[in-house]
Amino acid sequence: MQIGKYHIFVDLGHGIGNACLQASYTLGCKSNGIELVDARFYASEAFRRCFAKVAAEKKNDPNWNHTAGPVDLKHGRLEDPAFREWLTSADRVFVNNYNDVFGSRSACKSGVTIDSRIAALFAEMKPGSVLATMHPIADLLKRDQDEVLELREKYGMDTPSPDLASFFKCEKIELGPANETVSWSQSGGNTETIWVWKYTRLEQPSGSKNNNNNNNNNNGKGIFLCSYKDCEHARAAAPIPAAIIEDSGLRLRQCKCNYAAISTRGRKNRKPSRRYAGFDCS
Ligand SMILES: C[S@@+](CC[C@H](N)C(=O)[O-])C[C@H]1O[C@@H](n2cnc3c(N)ncnc32)[C@H](O)[C@@H]1O
Ligand SMILES: [Zn+2]
Repeated sequence: MQIGKYHIFVDLGHGIGNACLQASYTLGCKSNGIELVDARFYASEAFRRCFAKVAAEKKNDPNWNHTAGPVDLKHGRLEDPAFREWLTSADRVFVNNYNDVFGSRSACKSGVTIDSRIAALFAEMKPGSVLATMHPIADLLKRDQDEVLELREKYGMDTPSPDLASFFKCEKIELGPANETVSWSQSGGNTETIWVWKYTRLEQPSGSKNNNNNNNNNNGKGIFLCSYKDCEHARAAAPIPAAIIEDSGLRLRQCKCNYAAISTRGRKNRKPSRRYAGFDCS
């Protein structure tokens, strides 16, 4: 993720705070996190205080040369509008959604998943921001710049400039075998190959005259072009703001034609089996 002191790291669903503390104490960056579950949040605060205590004790030790960045851990839901500005101020984002925990199983009554909330937050982050996830975010894969350009070309649609097509690019990176590092049962840990999906926010033009779909002045926020072959907005290359604010929070937006492109790099959706954390956002 190429994190330096000058970056703001955020872990969305920070659990007991490992990633935030690691980033702050080893890379020196400011580190934010948000966690829903009470016990995990309180454990993360205890963990954070422990680190601060050790660092204070070592302050005058000549062998201690770590300068930790500030750590700010919040207790709540990442989709809560009260946290939107604070969360989108980050430019290095980690999401451990391994095994699709924030996918269809996490959907609230209106069908909006935690993945979609995260995708929308990412669309509001500044260009150059990087989001790393442990499971692909389906809604984002469909809107990768190369995918949109490929589909538009396939259907003979002109794209005035490639940076209008989408607000990000995606790479799938192999991290290697899990080596049983995490185990929640006595039957042993995970030995599967671990992959990471790296999404990079792209620089985009800040508005367009060629826009009859939405009144678009994106102010640096993400935009995309529809790629549905029979859509008038797609044919007109009308940029669409990628995120929309609703009462229940921010979510990723569709074109007015309501077409959700099927990604060529897609995945099978698992049937919802239970609601993750049982959130009712209706
Ligand atoms: C797979 S765990 C990852 C924990 C941590 N990031 C790590 O990698 O060690 C996902 C975490 O997200 C939290 N979570 C689930 N829904 C959330 C929401 N709507 N807002 C904030 N946190 C949430 C869960 O409680 C859980 O601790
Ligand atoms: Zn459309």
